[in-house]
Amino acid sequence: MMQSAPGPETVIDGVKYLYFGGTSYLGLASHPEVIDAGCEAIRKFGVHSATSRSRFGTNPPVLEVERLAAKLFGTEDAFYFGSGYVANHVMVAALASDSDVVLLDEAAHYCVTEAARLAGKPVHTFRHRDPQDLAKLAAQNDRVLVMADGVNPSTGATAPVLEFISALKGQPKAVLLLDDAHGFGVLGKHGRGLLDELNLWPHVNSGPPIDCVELFVCGTLAKALGGFGGVIPGTSEFVTRCRNSSHYFDGASAPASAEAGATAKALEIVMRLPDLRRRLSENIKRVHDGLLKLGVPAPESRAANFGVTIRDAANMRRIYEALKARGIMLPYVGNYSGLPPEGVLRFAIFATHTFDQIDRLLAELGAVL
Ligand SMILES: Cc1ncc(COP(=O)(O)O)c(C=O)c1O
Repeated sequence: MMQSAPGPETVIDGVKYLYFGGTSYLGLASHPEVIDAGCEAIRKFGVHSATSRSRFGTNPPVLEVERLAAKLFGTEDAFYFGSGYVANHVMVAALASDSDVVLLDEAAHYCVTEAARLAGKPVHTFRHRDPQDLAKLAAQNDRVLVMADGVNPSTGATAPVLEFISALKGQPKAVLLLDDAHGFGVLGKHGRGLLDELNLWPHVNSGPPIDCVELFVCGTLAKALGGFGGVIPGTSEFVTRCRNSSHYFDGASAPASAEAGATAKALEIVMRLPDLRRRLSENIKRVHDGLLKLGVPAPESRAANFGVTIRDAANMRRIYEALKARGIMLPYVGNYSGLPPEGVLRFAIFATHTFDQIDRLLAELGAVL
């Protein structure tokens, strides 16, 4: 049980650990200004508006999240709702009617897999990050909706988007939808995620298709961006379509006030302090370099979350326990969507980790390998 706010030092089951788990990559979930903004919002607006967005449920903090998310993502508008888990659900409701079949990366997150089924179309899986397998399946169908994670939540592997686009070239209709829950706030020049890093951002969510492939993305504000809830940025027309396609806008309570107030403040801080993202990428690089020195293969991606496999499950469990005994919490994840059977030691790097803390992790890891 976590008995403090998450951060570089986190209390779990009564013990304070040097913590490398979870997702608050920019370190904002425990930022004092974010906490104050959440408290202020709940005081002013109550726990939540106690009605759906389509009635009178859009209170000022909720609207502010949408305004600031649109600013961060450089889009006309953004749809903010209570859970990143349902972001794909909303996207599928908006996109699936034009497709005959859903092609799903076999390692995609649970929420992507569940949303794929909501399309009411046949769902076929292709091998994880395998454009050839995707091309083979796509060739058997005319209008395809392809779904995958932008960044795998446990391994940190990124979707080979350019190769996927090549694999779909010539398709009568191809839509590629990515869940970039772990890319938002971390990757790309503007922190807009994997498609920003690949210079494809102008094409997303109703932008012009690239090689006839329409690109769509959704994600969460609950990971790097330090808030809570799902987000879909885009043109006004596309965001309106998302609000109207599923019944999340008119059939669910609007996001809670404290959540929205905190999230708006976190977004404001991300834009005010670009240094946070710079520190995060320096920290990620320091961990990668340190792992290489230890002979542990560092991941290719520059995501803040990544998994490494060191021999087998028993060995990684031993390393996890040994680090824990030394006051370091580096989770061993044995079972999660898309993981190899032996599991991984999953690293989460924060902008707020100091170099000393990272060096201690690497030194202790080296001692117990
Ligand atoms: C790829 C992916 N999508 C969506 C989610 C869910 O997002 P949220 O926690 O904001 O509901 C997760 C959570 O771990 C995730 O890893």
